[in-house]
Amino acid sequence: MTTEKITEIFQKFYGNELPEIYASPGRINLIGEHTDYNGSFVFPGAIDKGMTAAIRFNGTDKVRAYAIDLDESSEFGLNEEDLPKEGWAKYIFGVCREIIKRGGTVKGFDTVFTGDVPLGAGMSSSAALESTFAFALNDLLNLGIDKFELARIGQSTEHNYVGVKCGIMDQFASIFGKKGHLIRLDTKSMEYAYFPFDPKGYRLVLLDTVVKHELASSAYNKRRESCEHAARTIAKRHPEVEFLRDATLGMLDEVKGEISEEDYMRAKYVIEETQRVRDVSDALERGDYETVGAKMYETHHGMSKLYEVSCEELDFLNDVARAHGVTGSRVMGGGFGGCTINLVKDELYDSFIRDAKTQFSAKYGHEPKVYDVVISDGARRL
Ligand code: GLA
Repeated sequence: MTTEKITEIFQKFYGNELPEIYASPGRINLIGEHTDYNGSFVFPGAIDKGMTAAIRFNGTDKVRAYAIDLDESSEFGLNEEDLPKEGWAKYIFGVCREIIKRGGTVKGFDTVFTGDVPLGAGMSSSAALESTFAFALNDLLNLGIDKFELARIGQSTEHNYVGVKCGIMDQFASIFGKKGHLIRLDTKSMEYAYFPFDPKGYRLVLLDTVVKHELASSAYNKRRESCEHAARTIAKRHPEVEFLRDATLGMLDEVKGEISEEDYMRAKYVIEETQRVRDVSDALERGDYETVGAKMYETHHGMSKLYEVSCEELDFLNDVARAHGVTGSRVMGGGFGGCTINLVKDELYDSFIRDAKTQFSAKYGHEPKVYDVVISDGARRL
C-alpha cells in the first residue's frame, strides 16, 4: 500500500493533520535456527515485506489504533491494567509498556497500520509490527534508545504480552537489516557482521506451505525449556557452560543419563546447528554456495528429526527440493508450519517451482505460495 493511501485512511479516521509514516521489515534466516535463545549464532536478513504505520500524537493518554488489513479498531490506555483484548493490539501495547518500563515517557497517539508479510509464514510479521512502533516512538519522542534496546523492547513484548519466549533474531533483523546484506549475529556477545549476499547463479526463494499449527508458541517455549535444562545439567560439571552454545557433543554425552531422551535430542540439534552456522559463515567467505546448501539440508534434517519442529508439508517440500537437485532447502523460522527457504540454481528455478506446485497441490489440495527473497533495509521513517 502506498504511503499516500495509508495517510488517506489515517485522515479519514483521525482528521486532517498529517501523520508520520514508519516501516519495518520481516526477515529470512539463512541458517542458525532455534539458536538465538541458546547464546549461539543466527544469519538473518531483512526482506522487502513488512509493516507500515501512520502515527500522530493525539494529546490524550490513550492509543487509538486501526488495523487496516483486518478492518479492526482498538483503543487502550498506557497503564499495565489497560491490556487490550485484540491480539494484534497487544503488540503495540506491549511496545509502549516496555518503553515505559525502561523509563521512557509515551504519550497517547492515533495510528493506522498495514502489512504485506504473510501471517504465520515464519517471516516474523510480529517482529515487524513491534519494530515499527518501537522505532517510531523512539524517533518521535526523542527517547534516545539505542538499536539493540529497540530490538529488546520487541522481544520483551513477545515474552511479557504475547507469551512467546523468543530469542532476539527477528527483532534484531527487523531493526538492523541492510539492503543486500545478511547479518551474522552472535546472540551471546551481540557482536554482528554484515555479509554482502549476492549469490551469482543462485536464487533464494521461500515456499509457504500455508500451514500454521495450533499451539506453536507453547511448543516453542517447551523447546527452550529443554535447552535450558540441558545447559544447566552440563554446567554442573562444566561451570563455563552458560548456554548450549558453549557446550560440546562430548559434554552432552556425559550427562545423557541425567536428562530425558527428548532434552538430549533438542540439545544435540542446537550444538550441531551452532557448528553449521560457523561452517556456513566460512563457506560464504569463499563464495562456496554448494556447502551452504548442503548445511541447509542438514539443518532441515535436525529440525525435523531431533528438534521436531517440522511438519509433514514442510518435509514434503524439502523432499521435492532434494529430488529436484536444489542446492539447499530447509524449514525456516520457528517451524510448526510456515515456509521452506531454498537456495536454487538459476537454471533450475522455473522447473523447481513448477514441480513443487504440482506435487504439493496433488497431495494437499492447494499450491504453496512462492516468495522471492529480496534482502532489504531495516526499520525506517518514510
Ligand atoms: C522464532 C523466534 C526467533 C527464533 C526462531 C527460530 O522466529 O521469534 O527468536 O528463535 O523462531 O530460529
